[in-house]
Amino acid sequence: MALKDKLSKSEKKSSSYISAKESRRITRFNRKTTKKLEKKRADAGKDPALYTTKMKDENNVVEFDNVCTYFFTDNGVVKAVDGVNFNVPRCSTVGVVGESGCGKSVTSLSLMQLLPRPTGQTVGGEIRFNKGDGTAYNIVNTPNSVMETIRGNKLSMIFQEPMTSLNPVFKIGEQVNEVIELHNKDMSPEDIKARTLEMLELVGIANKEGVYNMYPHELSGGMRQRICIAIALACSPTLIIADEPTTALDVTIQAQILDLLQNLKDKLQSSIMLITHDLGVVAGMADYVVVMYSGRIVEKGTADDIFHHPMHPYTIGLMASKPVVGKKVEELYNIPGSVPNPVNMPNYCYFKDRCEMHCDKCGGVYPPEIQVSDTHVVSCYRYCDQGKELGYPKSVNVEEL
Ligand SMILES: Nc1ncnc2c1ncn2[C@@H]1O[C@H](COP(=O)(O)OP(=O)(O)O)[C@@H](O)[C@H]1O
Ligand code: SF4
Ligand SMILES: [Mg+2]
Repeated sequence: MALKDKLSKSEKKSSSYISAKESRRITRFNRKTTKKLEKKRADAGKDPALYTTKMKDENNVVEFDNVCTYFFTDNGVVKAVDGVNFNVPRCSTVGVVGESGCGKSVTSLSLMQLLPRPTGQTVGGEIRFNKGDGTAYNIVNTPNSVMETIRGNKLSMIFQEPMTSLNPVFKIGEQVNEVIELHNKDMSPEDIKARTLEMLELVGIANKEGVYNMYPHELSGGMRQRICIAIALACSPTLIIADEPTTALDVTIQAQILDLLQNLKDKLQSSIMLITHDLGVVAGMADYVVVMYSGRIVEKGTADDIFHHPMHPYTIGLMASKPVVGKKVEELYNIPGSVPNPVNMPNYCYFKDRCEMHCDKCGGVYPPEIQVSDTHVVSCYRYCDQGKELGYPKSVNVEEL
């Protein structure tokens, strides 16, 4: 048999193989669906009543309510975030943890409306952001013109890589000034500079006048991240999203940056959504923890619930795989197997193929959320008789969009 025939046979066997005909069908479907979604969004954005809503609980800053964010890719629909429910209460830190690719960043980008559209779309659910006057924005429908007044002002983000977040051709002072100027149109240039210097001092820059006139490449990684924090906090946001803020920094600087974030959060009375794959970072800072796996929340609760009483086999596995100071082990535990293919998710528990605790019930549909205490919720069949069933995560049928 010719090599070409052999290759095409083995390619066809693999689940990721797509024929030219299928590929054309996917492209047509994506074009049609994303066009429809963009139109629906544009229409909703014209009417404030369609993007104004009410918080379920006024004490929350943000409520994610069954949020589904999908990517319409050439290989099919990737359900990056699929039925995510959690709240960020006022003046608190919520840690979002999970391994790479589980949908942490996509959750935060959905909130900031920074998804690469039209490929990435929030196709279902509501993201409510508290305005503080008894009403809330439903971010999913909010038009860009309104988002521009919220983003960087009431809602700001600190990214993983401080070098790429800062513009290399502008001085530090100009970059911090820009944010303050944009959201405070009536401030004089002198007041803006004074506010920038105040922010630089607040984030622990000793030589603030000198740093004001420096370029990003003249600063160390830790200092650059402090500048990014200054930019994020310049307008006293109600929520700071920190997406892996310390992953690119070395360990001693990590601790300083986390301390700084925690202190500033208390000073400004903001909340933090702290996204990380590092359980150690969350343990020291978070009040509440949300554990994600393959685009869904598998467990959520207070830091004490998650760290001292983990229930979901994935969370238990994560805890077992973290090194403990003073405890000698030959080899650290690792969770066997790998995450399922995001284009072709199974209809049973996503963790089942890796789960060492699975039971007879696990072959059924995806498990419901079980409330095991006032604060602790877990999605696993093992706990069905130990709490109240809250319901099943709701996926969106893309064919019906
Ligand atoms: N621009 C994109 N196009 C297609 N798929 C994407 C895109 N961005 C993210 N994804 C998908 O979303 C999933 C979640 O990504 P992400 O939220 O960035 O993961 P993480 O938890 O590491 O932050 C990834 O597995 C990837 O398949
Ligand atoms: S539902 Fe079953 S397979 Fe899924 S995590 Fe729980 S025990 Fe494991
Ligand atoms: Mg990420």
